[in-house]
Amino acid sequence: MNTVVSKLEPKWISFTFRHPWLAATAASKVKLSTRPPEPVIPAKKPFKAELVGGKHYSWCTCGHSRKQPFCDGSHKTRAQGLSPLRFVPEKDATVWLCGCKHTSNPPYCDGTHKQDFIASAPLHEPAES
Ligand code: FES
Repeated sequence: MNTVVSKLEPKWISFTFRHPWLAATAASKVKLSTRPPEPVIPAKKPFKAELVGGKHYSWCTCGHSRKQPFCDGSHKTRAQGLSPLRFVPEKDATVWLCGCKHTSNPPYCDGTHKQDFIASAPLHEPAES
């Protein structure tokens, strides 16, 4: 099997083909009809969270949740195509969970919120329910 990844959006477009000859043909014909959803920025700083080892958590990836930094199901209507990141910490821990939704180490803050593109971006106001 071959995998073709578009150079335009390598994070989002990946097609797997069963026939190797089809990959070369299809690679030049891949076009996007719509852009994948982008997260909004609910906070420009991380959220301190005290996690319980072995407990299941869902970290909001779309930014629309009213229960930041955790998912409240808002992605189903406001950011279709994005899903929460589910994780289970091994042990109890106090951590900093990303609030800007642009970390490279989800669900944890990696300092990306300090970059100019986050500082200059509009802060998302949660919609009335
Ligand atoms: S809050 Fe997103 S990287 Fe820090």
